[in-house]
Amino acid sequence: MIAPKKPFGLMDNSFQSAGGYEGVKQLVDVFYDEMAAQTVAEKIHHMHTDDAALRRDKLTRFLCGWLGGPRLFSETYGPINIPKVHAHLDVGEAERDAWLFCMERALARMPYDPDFKHYLQEQLKIPAERIRQVSQMARRAQSTPHG
Ligand code: HEM
Repeated sequence: MIAPKKPFGLMDNSFQSAGGYEGVKQLVDVFYDEMAAQTVAEKIHHMHTDDAALRRDKLTRFLCGWLGGPRLFSETYGPINIPKVHAHLDVGEAERDAWLFCMERALARMPYDPDFKHYLQEQLKIPAERIRQVSQMARRAQSTPHG
C-alpha cells in the first residue's frame, strides 16, 4: 500500500520535503544563480548589497524556519519582519514577479516532489505580494507632502 502524502503545511513536513537544511541551502544557491543569470532579474539582482555568501546564508536560514523547520535566522541574525526589511526597496509587480520567476526556475532544477514544488511556489507568492504592498505604501508615504 502506498502511504498517503503528509500535508505540506503541517509540522516540519515542508522543511523535510525541501531536503532539510542542506536541501534549502541548495535551493537558495540555485535561486541566486538564476537571479544572476536571468535578464528579467537584472534590476533585483543589482538591488542586493550583502555579499553573496551572507545573502545566501540569510535566505537559507530564513526559509528553514518559514518551512516549519528550525528557526535558524533569528538564532544568528535576530528577529525579522519580512515586509519591513524590504520596505526601503522599490518592489513593484515587475520586481515581485522577477523574484518569483527565479524561484520557479530554481524549483524546476531541484529533485523535489512536483506537488511540493507547486505548493512552495504558491506559498511564496504570499510574502512576495505583501512585500510589494508594503514597499509601495512606503513609497506613497514618502511622496505625500506633510503639513
Ligand atoms: C518580492 C520580491 C523580492 C525582492 C525584489 C527581494 C529583494 C531583496 C533584497 C534586495 C534584499 C537585500 C539583500 C542585500 O542587501 O544584499 C533582500 C533581503 C532578504 N530577503 Fe528578499 N526580496 C523579495 C522577496 C523575498 C521573499 C518572498 C522572501 C522570503 C520568503 C525574502 C527573504 C529575504 C531575506 C530573509 C532577506 C535578508 C534580510 C536581512 O538582511 O535581514 N525576500 N531581499
